[in-house]
Amino acid sequence: MSEISVAIIGGTGVYNQSLLDNEKQVTVETKYGAVSMQSGKYDGRRVYFLARHGGNHSVPPHKVNYKANIAALKKVGAHAVLATAAVGTLRREMPPGSIVVIDQFIDLTKQRPLTFYDGEESPVVHTDFSEPYCKEIREAVFGAGETLGQGLVDGGCYVCTEGPRFETPAEIRMIEQWGGDLVGMTNVPEVVLAREAGLCYAALALPTNYAAGISLSPLTHEEVLEEMDRGKAALDNLLAAFISTVKPQHSCSCKDAGKYWPGES
Ligand code: HPA
Repeated sequence: MSEISVAIIGGTGVYNQSLLDNEKQVTVETKYGAVSMQSGKYDGRRVYFLARHGGNHSVPPHKVNYKANIAALKKVGAHAVLATAAVGTLRREMPPGSIVVIDQFIDLTKQRPLTFYDGEESPVVHTDFSEPYCKEIREAVFGAGETLGQGLVDGGCYVCTEGPRFETPAEIRMIEQWGGDLVGMTNVPEVVLAREAGLCYAALALPTNYAAGISLSPLTHEEVLEEMDRGKAALDNLLAAFISTVKPQHSCSCKDAGKYWPGES
């Protein structure tokens, strides 16, 4: 069997992966643009680590080249993709410092390319999102958490706002009424494009603050980074255990969704 390869997309506060052996920076060319990522080995497996905002956090959420990132992970043949995303939380049972394996999303973005299937070089395709995140990747995360004795929150609805500003308290009240649990700025269109490309993808939401109006103080990016730093060791352990144990073959239907994917393979 070919080498097992696992991809990690690191969000805010997760800019490199120090656990990799023989680590080097590689550039993957795609028809949507070039993508730079770390490639290395961990526990005998090939690992690709892609910093969503760039290594120095220079790319804001609405300017991330999500299509190129997903096309690059497809091109390198990732068997499993796990993303991290800093979020604001609306729920006491998902406090700052917890790790939420999200299972639903609501899209409140406004001006991002949302699909690979824009009718130009592909048929019109309406992809099923009844189960938005790969159930096998989610299970592998829970398995990794169990090995470590690390508690994870099973399920949460991530609401993706356009950013880069934080939300208003009125927006958070609306999101609360809609059943949203967490707010962030990057999981859409990433999750959508991953499914459209037929990749097995899941995401860890990392609450760093209570959302606007729930938090008693103004929100700052520094506060987000500080909280991410506090949780870094636990997150690194979880990612390492995930990389070591995730299965390369999945019985889910994610790959079927990529049947008409128009990018290079
Ligand atoms: N809102 C949106 N994105 C975020 C937040 C937030 O409160 N915290 C971290 N990322």
